[in-house]
Amino acid sequence: MIPMPSRHGYPCVALEWYDLTSMRGLPLHEKLAGLVRIGIALYSVRELDELLEMIVEEAMDICGADGGTLYLVRDSMLEFHITRNRSLEKEIGRERMLDFFERLVIPISTSSMAGTCALTGKAMNIPDLYSLPSDFPFRHNPELDRRTGYKSVSQLTVPMHGRTGGCVGVLQILNSLDAEGKPVPFAPDDEMLLSAFAAQAGVSIQNAQLDEKLRRSHQETLFRLSGAAEYRDKETSNHIRRMSHYSRIIATGIGLSRLEVASIHHAAPMHDVGKIGIPDRILHKPGPLTAEERTIMESHCLIGARILEGSDVPVVHQASVLALTHHEKWDGTGYPQRLSGRRIPLEGRIAAVADVFDALASRRCYKEAWPEDKVLEYLIEQKGKHFDPDLVDCFLQNIEEVRRVQAQHLDTDDDFQKIESLSSHLSDEAVDRAA
Ligand SMILES: [Fe+2]
Ligand SMILES: [Fe+2]
Repeated sequence: MIPMPSRHGYPCVALEWYDLTSMRGLPLHEKLAGLVRIGIALYSVRELDELLEMIVEEAMDICGADGGTLYLVRDSMLEFHITRNRSLEKEIGRERMLDFFERLVIPISTSSMAGTCALTGKAMNIPDLYSLPSDFPFRHNPELDRRTGYKSVSQLTVPMHGRTGGCVGVLQILNSLDAEGKPVPFAPDDEMLLSAFAAQAGVSIQNAQLDEKLRRSHQETLFRLSGAAEYRDKETSNHIRRMSHYSRIIATGIGLSRLEVASIHHAAPMHDVGKIGIPDRILHKPGPLTAEERTIMESHCLIGARILEGSDVPVVHQASVLALTHHEKWDGTGYPQRLSGRRIPLEGRIAAVADVFDALASRRCYKEAWPEDKVLEYLIEQKGKHFDPDLVDCFLQNIEEVRRVQAQHLDTDDDFQKIESLSSHLSDEAVDRAA
């Protein structure tokens, strides 16, 4: 089997197996065979958001539906995640279409179609939403149709179950379209096919959620350990949080792929992990450093790279490069290798802008924050000297997003108290005492 991009841009198995846009007219046994192939394709997507998009898209294709919505179970509620509506998207564009949808959270109860489906674990095939049987505990809310001018008619809702049988979400498709594009009821075959598809989708979602949880726990562990080095240097963990977001903003702005951006974002907090190896008398010296002390201080790049080197985990490998090169300067006057220009790895050049901006724009134990205009003036003045000029331009173009990150991760007095308390426990003296 050769992994190939599908028509929706997802990695999947061989395309000729998989193109099921016209599945509607196929005999049932071919539809079922197609379903198995889609199931295999679902297993190849491990990134949750991508997977959810793919599930909705395929559910619509399998049953010839015009729209689709996916809810995930979270904390005993159903959380709205993805919605598609091809007619509306064609008419007003996807962005504007999404403006009509709120990110709803609804109870798992008989107060809604999706809630009932999650509660009972049964598919619901409604031929006409405006003629629901009077004994149904819920009604169709016509508000969205009224606001958008769209006419919802038929709806098919199926539960998605995980490996152990619990409901992980609900898949809902809207308006089965006939050959003329007119909405008609979903056929019993559609109900059977969508239920079978939802069974595969549920397991894939659960796998992707477990992967994501594992990824997050690895990231959290690395972040906390990086935070320990920051506390030794009397910096708050907000510094590495903000700095890694600034690195993400730059990486996105220069057009790196989603995976590359994520990798830089998660590697950036480890840039100063080598400060663990710098003695307090130098790390905390208030006045200027002697030449010998400066050499020791600058060795934090090499120490960090040594701590992180040799990993086959890509993000840790990238962190090693970043730790080694975040003090290199574009004009070749940085350290430790005096690299210049594009010979400095991109992650090091990105981290340099993000790190210096945050160091200047934030309050530290020993100084107040510089005003923003002064910091930006400095970045501009250092274009082509300290910093890669293109990356500074990119940073400035995205300054609004930078400000949002700053506002979200402000240092508080509590953070500074935590520094005082933790840095005394992490001092050389305290470590010696404990040993
Ligand atoms: Fe550093
Ligand atoms: Fe830093």
